[in-house]
Amino acid sequence: MELSIIIPTFNERENVRKITNRIMDVLRPIGCSYEIFFVDDSRDDTPTVLEELSKNHHEVKYLHRQNGRGLGTAVVEGFKRTQGNFIIVMDADLQHPPELLPLIYRRLLQGIEVLIPSRFVEGGSDGGLNWFRKLVSWTARTIGRISIKRMRDISDCTGGYFGLHRSVIEGVTLDPVGWKILMEVLVKGKYQTVHEIPYSFEARDAGTSKMSTIEQWNYLKHIFKLVWSSPDDRRFYLFCMVGALGVLVNLMVLKLLLIIFLIHSLAASIGASCVAMLHNFLWNDNFTWKEKKQPIMWRRVLRLPQFIVISGVGIGITAAFAWLASWIGINIFLGQLAGIIVATSWNYLANNKWTWEA
Ligand code: GDD
Ligand code: MN
Repeated sequence: MELSIIIPTFNERENVRKITNRIMDVLRPIGCSYEIFFVDDSRDDTPTVLEELSKNHHEVKYLHRQNGRGLGTAVVEGFKRTQGNFIIVMDADLQHPPELLPLIYRRLLQGIEVLIPSRFVEGGSDGGLNWFRKLVSWTARTIGRISIKRMRDISDCTGGYFGLHRSVIEGVTLDPVGWKILMEVLVKGKYQTVHEIPYSFEARDAGTSKMSTIEQWNYLKHIFKLVWSSPDDRRFYLFCMVGALGVLVNLMVLKLLLIIFLIHSLAASIGASCVAMLHNFLWNDNFTWKEKKQPIMWRRVLRLPQFIVISGVGIGITAAFAWLASWIGINIFLGQLAGIIVATSWNYLANNKWTWEA
């Protein structure tokens, strides 16, 4: 079997026959062996139509889940029950044009491991959504692309139309929370090459969308889970948490030095900062970058001066912003805040590249 097309369905009685016919029409001239696999959670009589289709066409197969649990798990079920070397996932409602299948297949054949038809590259369009859905969709995509490194360069990481080599997901545990199975594949899959091609997202042919507020909440939960499961994405947030904890430590030590030891305020301030820096270093070494743990002690200790130098540059960056703000007449606190954001990013990237590089 060369190609498996997986189609999740929920109450798509009017659409399954149409999409089957259109897929067969476009694939016939190519002459590859394929199967169309529906994973159905419907409460209407879609299964009856699917039964009939599968009797008439040996390419059509389906699984009806009695107590179906959503779009993401339906696709994962499809991954398990199909055989093709190449897999294409698409919706049943004809919003994903089947006419693109030959091109997707060809690209997969040429060695591209993950191929994503995108609404947002030149030549694509998302005409099938109203303005509100467009806004929600844009916000969701932006949150996803900021939070997750492997999605950063993908313009349409939340779509439901994509192709892949089976090897991308072989041996990988997929556990999607809601709808966005593509994100799960992008973050956990094994691949080198991803490519996007334009397509225009059509209006729904029949029936209604099953998108809901619950799904949007699930989306955020899914992002959170993906960030947590990927060391590369998690690290930056851990680094920020350590930094925030460091500020508390800094203030507490300052208070201690001033009250108990009656130290001169400048000395107390510098002392508190030094303690906080050491505190941050230890947490980062044992927690944030724990996968990069250095077994040789002296090398580990050598990381401290590096960390201090990078933090020093960070302080310089923050000061520059504060100075610039007061120079052009903006509130110095705003300048300091902007500086802290830039310096945190600098500190993170520099430490990630040099201090804990190996
Ligand atoms: N098996 C199963 N179980 N299928 C489901 C379920 C479910 O619980 N919920 C929805 N589906 C099926 C639908 O029958 C349809 O074939 C497909 O999943 C997409 O559902 P729609 O209700 O048509 O969603 P949409 O059009 O609002 O959004 C789709 O397109 C967007 C753009 O590509 C989804 O694919 C989105 O993920 C995508 O962003
Ligand atoms: Mn749809």
